[in-house]
Amino acid sequence: MTQRPYVIDEMISAKTIAARIEDLCREITDEYFNTSKLVVVGLLRGSFVFIADLVRELDLPVEVDFLEASSYGDGMETSREVRILKDLRGQIEGRDVLVVEDIVDTGHTLSHVLHLLESRKPARLKTIALLNKPSRREVEIKADWIGFEIPDEFVVGYGIDYAQRNRNLPYIGKVRFTD
Ligand code: IMP
Ligand code: MG
Repeated sequence: MTQRPYVIDEMISAKTIAARIEDLCREITDEYFNTSKLVVVGLLRGSFVFIADLVRELDLPVEVDFLEASSYGDGMETSREVRILKDLRGQIEGRDVLVVEDIVDTGHTLSHVLHLLESRKPARLKTIALLNKPSRREVEIKADWIGFEIPDEFVVGYGIDYAQRNRNLPYIGKVRFTD
């Protein structure tokens, strides 16, 4: 795939992200204070940095599992069909579950994953998304906890990619084409 040249403008600093995660984790810890063990489910691949920071701020017994759903190809266009590429390793029936997503954009991915996990009868099933783009929503769905609301910009960094690049940036930046 030929890449159009672009630069990345910082949108949310690493420090701002860390501070927001501390606040969110206080709320999540309160919500699940009586859990015997919380299963934290990261949606691959975009949530891998977020989930790593999140679980280290949670003052709860946790287990980590991953699920991979496909919606984007290698570009910026979403596809409405969601497929499960990698399922959970563990059972979640009767368990407390927190689904961790990087961005809720059209909402198709999170909605599909939630229906799937709901059918397995977890005790409590809640969701957290680092970023929310409400203006792009096609399916009515809202994460229980949201890090930041952002406008309709294509973002990268902190685990999030553009055609598999820029996941290792410590901050969230927006892609600006220079051609
Ligand atoms: P949805 O199904 O349209 O809500 O898409 C959710 C997925 O699309 C997210 O988990 C991301 O992986 C990807 N995505 C949405 N917006 C962006 C973006 O701005 N940059 C990179 N990936 C994005
Ligand atoms: Mg994703």
